[in-house]
Amino acid sequence: MKALFPRLYGDRKLIIVKGEGQYVYDARGNRYVDAHTGIGVAFLGHRNPKVVEYIRRQMDNIMTLNPSFSTPIREEMLKELDPLKPEGLDNVLLLNSGTEAVEFALKVARKVTGRKKIIAFKNAFHGRTAGALSVTWNKRYREPFEPLVPETYFIDYNSVDSLRAIDSGTAAVIVEPIQGEGGVIPANENFMKELRAVTERVGALLILDEIQTGFGRTGKVWAHQHFGIKPDVVLAAKAFGGGFPVSGVFLPDWIAEKLEEGDHGSTYGGNPLAMAAVTAAAKVLKEENVPEQAAVKGETLIRMLRDRLADSKAVREIRGKGLMIGVDVRFPPGPALQVMQEKKKVLAIKAGTTTIRLLPPYLINAEDMEAIADAVREGVGTLLSQRSTS
Ligand SMILES: Cc1ncc(COP(=O)(O)O)c(C=O)c1O
Repeated sequence: MKALFPRLYGDRKLIIVKGEGQYVYDARGNRYVDAHTGIGVAFLGHRNPKVVEYIRRQMDNIMTLNPSFSTPIREEMLKELDPLKPEGLDNVLLLNSGTEAVEFALKVARKVTGRKKIIAFKNAFHGRTAGALSVTWNKRYREPFEPLVPETYFIDYNSVDSLRAIDSGTAAVIVEPIQGEGGVIPANENFMKELRAVTERVGALLILDEIQTGFGRTGKVWAHQHFGIKPDVVLAAKAFGGGFPVSGVFLPDWIAEKLEEGDHGSTYGGNPLAMAAVTAAAKVLKEENVPEQAAVKGETLIRMLRDRLADSKAVREIRGKGLMIGVDVRFPPGPALQVMQEKKKVLAIKAGTTTIRLLPPYLINAEDMEAIADAVREGVGTLLSQRSTS
């Protein structure tokens, strides 16, 4: 029996046997500062004690239950999520993955507006199932599987002019407040405000894909709060489950009331273990002031990176918000990531074609930040020395 994972995901040539807090450990006992976190999942730290406690306790009660039955953890989860929900979005549906949340949001948009057209942005990433892939920009991911969902279009990100394409035939616009996979590219405030105004004017839903940015990562609970806008639909995953696979779709009453039995369903969606994980994650977020910590640490880390890389000819830009940071370099960053992993014991991940993406847990301390900045410096240095010798 062979695993397909390396073929589809690449192979980092590293066997990880344990994760604890902001660190993971290999089979030899080497410790790595984890700024990869499974593309942002372990934002609350590996094996966060509260998340482990809640899942464990839930396992002792009931592990699986179809959502047509309720169970006490549902009420507890709703109570914990209530103060964190995006403003006015009082309804939540749990699903299993980011892409599934996107699928549901696109279905909801068509159902409640009666329109077909879906608009997304160049460089966007929303997932790899058919609907989500239709609104994912990278041709390498999308084109081999076309035709996908019809009437899906891409317009320029951060361009107010491009918003003219949004009209009375548009069911929804889906947007990341910071494009993650596309290269850690933050939206600008004016663009997001205009986007909100235009979608409202024509009656199109504004779907905020906060799968990577949400739940404290950027220094606010939701990244759209940086822009002071109110979306119609917000999607969460990754950090949302504190490490457990789960996604969430937040909707207002007026949309929820238009949905009917059978409009969506998912065997594992909202299973008791997922609800326990979300409940614990929500508690941690509030009790530990996670967004505030991400804001402060993110600023420190960006400052350190700017200091360390100020003289580097390989670096084009350092950007991001909170603990979602991109170091954009002039060359493909693969060799830099390898050096960071092997020599400096820091894990990070690529974004776009030229960006080193850092998505560390909120738990990182000053020493970890030093280690990350140092590793990036060394990794980036390799890119230049490889160029000069090749
Ligand atoms: C913004 C965004 N949307 C959607 C997805 C897809 O999520 P999943 O891989 O859980 O399907 C991702 C995953 O990286 C993402 O970053």
